[in-house]
Amino acid sequence: MKIFLDTAEVGQIIDGYKTGLIDGVTTNPTLILRSGRQQSDVIEEIFEACPNLESISAEVVANTAEEMVEQAQPYIDLSSNVTIKVPCTREGLKACYELSNDDVLTNVTLVFSVAQAILAAKAGATYVSPFVGRVDDNSFGGLCLVKDIANTYKMHSVETQILAASIRNVRDVGRAFEYGANVCTLPVKVFDKMYDHILTEKGLELFDKDYAAACKS
Ligand code: E4P
Repeated sequence: MKIFLDTAEVGQIIDGYKTGLIDGVTTNPTLILRSGRQQSDVIEEIFEACPNLESISAEVVANTAEEMVEQAQPYIDLSSNVTIKVPCTREGLKACYELSNDDVLTNVTLVFSVAQAILAAKAGATYVSPFVGRVDDNSFGGLCLVKDIANTYKMHSVETQILAASIRNVRDVGRAFEYGANVCTLPVKVFDKMYDHILTEKGLELFDKDYAAACKS
């Protein structure tokens, strides 16, 4: 069960990394825009600050596979842990096939069906990213998609890892892993909430009170 952070805010990534519970990072053009920085600077800084992450996804945006591979090159030169994120389109999967053949880690993103996940696996993707929240937004079951992909991959011994993306609440994290996701990528606020439970808080309050009373007596 791996946890990635879905953000381009380097400070937050460093804080998460220090917990020892974070295995990787995903970014996308929207998150990069929100950070107000250049993607190359963000990716480079994450590598410097968090050297032991297994994967840092940098997304390429282009019309052809050739352009995607070209765009990926500066990131590939940075580290062997860089994961090139390509869209689940004909050109994106061509790029994925080429990059995978060169042993570059790949993440096929914007996946909304089992059919797309099958193609991503055939293209040699390291990770496939079903977008749980966006499927739910469109009145389909995002977690059912994770489950269906996991069952299909298991039945055919596929090695591509299922990276559940677009996760918006803590409950879905547990469910995604239960349904067979290998990785969940989470906004920092969802990761932070994973620590919380009302009964932990109440229990702690009582223990703190009793500890203080025992020390007095
Ligand atoms: C995943 O790699 C994406 O960056 C992300 O999870 C998208 O989430 P959203 O649907 O909340 O934008």
